[in-house]
Amino acid sequence: MTFFSWSDAYSVGAQFIDNDHRRLVELINELHDAMALGKGRDILGKTLDDLIHYTKEHFKREEDEMRRIDYHAAAEHVTQHERLIHEVADLQAKFHAGESLVTGAVLKFLKDWLVNHMMRTDIKFAWALRRAGAASVAV
Ligand SMILES: [Fe+2]
Repeated sequence: MTFFSWSDAYSVGAQFIDNDHRRLVELINELHDAMALGKGRDILGKTLDDLIHYTKEHFKREEDEMRRIDYHAAAEHVTQHERLIHEVADLQAKFHAGESLVTGAVLKFLKDWLVNHMMRTDIKFAWALRRAGAASVAV
């Protein structure tokens, strides 16, 4: 059974964000499967690196759009991104140093963080993007 299934309920209504989130869900599943199948540290490490790399790219895409529309709630949104990156970078460093493992608890944390962030934080940004789009059409 798939660990983390995409649901249309996760759609925030902005295409590029939804596309990125679908990819993040896939990458979290890849990490889960690598762990569940008992893959070696090299495979797990590479999968973890891919997930973190893509997450940083995704956050940058969102933050570029926040600047473009001068999003009023950018500061607190970016703080959430920075906190997550800080946490996963710590995990990544410890994993590569052989000091920590990718566990079920780590996977659950990533899944819950993403669902929560999509549904509470990204959805508000997507509303603002749509309003900004409508405003620029009206002008
Ligand atoms: Fe976000």
